[in-house]
Amino acid sequence: MRSPFLLALAATSVLAVQVTTVYNFTSGDVDIENSELRPNGHLLLTTFYEGHLYTLNPHTENPQAELVAALPGATGLCGITTIAYEKYAVVGGVRGTYHYDNETVYTVDFSQDATNPVIEKVAHLPTAIMLNGMAAMPKNPHIVLIGDAIRGLLFRVDTTTGVSSIAIQDPQLNATSTSSLPIGVNGLKVTGNYVHFTNSARNTYGRIHVSDDGETFGEVEIIASLNSTVNDWDDFIIDSDGIAYVAQPVDGIARIFLNGTHSVYAGGDGSGIDGPSSVQIASDGYAYVTQGGGSVVKFQLPRNTTLAEGEF
Ligand SMILES: *[C@@H]1O[C@H](CO)[C@@H](O)[C@H](O)[C@H]1NC(C)=O
Ligand SMILES: *[C@@H]1O[C@H](CO)[C@@H](O)[C@H](O)[C@H]1NC(C)=O
Ligand SMILES: *[C@@H]1O[C@H](CO)[C@@H](O)[C@H](O)[C@H]1NC(C)=O
Ligand SMILES: *[C@@H]1O[C@H](CO)[C@@H](O)[C@H](O)[C@H]1NC(C)=O
Ligand SMILES: *[C@@H]1O[C@H](CO)[C@@H](O)[C@H](O)[C@H]1NC(C)=O
Ligand SMILES: *[C@@H]1O[C@H](CO)[C@@H](O)[C@H](O)[C@H]1NC(C)=O
Repeated sequence: MRSPFLLALAATSVLAVQVTTVYNFTSGDVDIENSELRPNGHLLLTTFYEGHLYTLNPHTENPQAELVAALPGATGLCGITTIAYEKYAVVGGVRGTYHYDNETVYTVDFSQDATNPVIEKVAHLPTAIMLNGMAAMPKNPHIVLIGDAIRGLLFRVDTTTGVSSIAIQDPQLNATSTSSLPIGVNGLKVTGNYVHFTNSARNTYGRIHVSDDGETFGEVEIIASLNSTVNDWDDFIIDSDGIAYVAQPVDGIARIFLNGTHSVYAGGDGSGIDGPSSVQIASDGYAYVTQGGGSVVKFQLPRNTTLAEGEF
């Protein structure tokens, strides 16, 4: 007869999601904030380190992050999103404490040269305080939405003309007067006709109806809430079943279903995932997770997990 202990052990080993390190800056000063997958499976990494943008090929034997550029005028880079084939919009500014100066949208265009991109400043947002997540509109990817975590709003920016406007300002995108963390809207992703967001201060995950050209309408809908005083929800990615994989800076990667049910999926035992800041779903069946401490780790996704339509 098998002992209950062995049964429990077997169940645990089947359920545990193995996390492996892909790359680690180890110097301790490169805080990775966000990421985007390139069509070749490499990762672009935005950091709080001297405006540095890195690229990382996770499929070599000994992956090494390579500096793409220090974006001019920025000390901290946040949101990044694909706006055309091998062309990315990146948010950057001069980083202070819960406040940025000179918030700017850059484009980084590798389409002509895969190693030496053309870098341009395409929009300035002088009224922005703390831009965070950014998402392109799938049918008009030159239009992006960017969350301002302190003002509690989404900017709509046309990266071709540089024109920006406020798409929506709502308390559900803002912090509260009692929240310990003053960061409201954080991660942002568009799938179908919704822009999804996390709000770190409120510990919520929600969505707002959005037109193909980035105009929002209707009420903010809260899908899920995290009941925690120590953790919060940061950046995330959505798969083709509408399941969000969300970075929880204190405790691993959570999955949120559309019905609001959520639980920690990977790294929740306090090991393997440490200070996650963003998640990518790659076509090799792995999720790639960036961590504030300067590392990239990966774990295997459930079979058949693919990116939501409209994601690049
Ligand atoms: C990265 O390196 C730092 C410093 O050596 C170490 O503390 C940390 O655990 C490493 N992280 C990973 C994910 O390997
Ligand atoms: C913002 O940009 C202006 C114009 O380039 C520059 O003069 C100013 O020093 C910048 N501010 C900071 C805080 O870097
Ligand atoms: C956002 O929340 C903060 C903290 O409660 C508050 O000071 C600020 O006025 C709010 N912003 C708006 C636009 O309501
Ligand atoms: C939230 O967590 C606290 C502490 O664990 C618990 O007492 C409370 O009932 C929970 N609230 C909800 C709505 O689940
Ligand atoms: C929510 O959806 C998930 C995935 O389909 C399912 O496993 C879970 O039972 C559902 N929860 C509720 C409360 O309906
Ligand atoms: C999903 O996985 C099942 C087996 O688990 C397989 O039969 C099916 O073809 C897969 N579907 C897709 C779309 O990959």
